[in-house]
Amino acid sequence: MDSRRKILLDCDPGIDDAIALCLAAAHTEAFCFLGITTVAGNQTIEKVTDNALRLSEFLKLDVPVAQGARTPVIREPLTASGIHGKNGLGDVPFPRAEAEPAGENAVLFMRNKIMELPAQEKVTLIATGPLTNVGLLLKACPEVRERIQEIVIMGGACTGGNVTANAEFNIYEDPEGAAMVFLSGLPIVMCGLDVTAKCGLNREAMAFLLERDGKVSEKVGKMLQFYLDSPGYRDKETASIHDAVPFMYLLHPELFQGEKMYVQVDCSQGISRGATVCDRRSSAHGQEPPVMVLLKGDSDKFREYLLEAVFSLDEKLSE
Ligand code: RIB
Ligand code: CA
Repeated sequence: MDSRRKILLDCDPGIDDAIALCLAAAHTEAFCFLGITTVAGNQTIEKVTDNALRLSEFLKLDVPVAQGARTPVIREPLTASGIHGKNGLGDVPFPRAEAEPAGENAVLFMRNKIMELPAQEKVTLIATGPLTNVGLLLKACPEVRERIQEIVIMGGACTGGNVTANAEFNIYEDPEGAAMVFLSGLPIVMCGLDVTAKCGLNREAMAFLLERDGKVSEKVGKMLQFYLDSPGYRDKETASIHDAVPFMYLLHPELFQGEKMYVQVDCSQGISRGATVCDRRSSAHGQEPPVMVLLKGDSDKFREYLLEAVFSLDEKLSE
């Protein structure tokens, strides 16, 4: 039996989603990708889907991509073109994909991939965009619940935010979608800003990547260049590669510390829209806290292992 972790990735590429895929593609000994699904977030659904198709082929993952939600469950979609560029990948060109998106939408695609697994196998859902697709999957297809090993998300924050003082982008974009996931009672690992903001690549790493004669290094270096010049990072030394943290956590859990908590999502319209309220009170909800909230991470090791992955892909893809 294939002992690798069976992965479904729901994403909105997105510069950091793309770099997360590089990390995953460098570790095919650990991850068996069942597929990629896309959700509107950093860019429109058309652009993030096209990006996922291009990345899947460029990185030789060659897995099916299914298009998902065009808008959040209820709210109006917001994009982040100021940070991720018009094409969503820092306006860095990737070769056009040969493949088309899968015939079914992301929710049906995820449901079918999960239910097709051999009886004794389970899937790990990784989400690095708004949680619209994952929330709808859990609500519309409860039969998948017992086939999910855990859900590892990039999103939320125990304290603070990036879109507002209280909310992180993925949760802010679709609070209702996020609430459906956090209230599911399934085992969740929340890689929030408390840890992801400190996990990144700096200008020195960018220069090193640009100087190398590597097919993947060049693309990652150029995406980083755009990212570091964007309003969010212009005056900073390091750009957070938020979406690589879920994969790094699964590869190297020893780099991270966290606490089991209850997480509730503020679905109001007010200043706290999209806040993830993390509750440490173990007796307050009458059940074992279902969410592992990561609070600390080893930034140096994160950078070292991420660069190692990019360099190994340079070799692997040049063969
Ligand atoms: O807040 C960071 C998250 O929002 C990342 O997933 C990034 O790609 C954006 O989607
Ligand atoms: Ca993302």
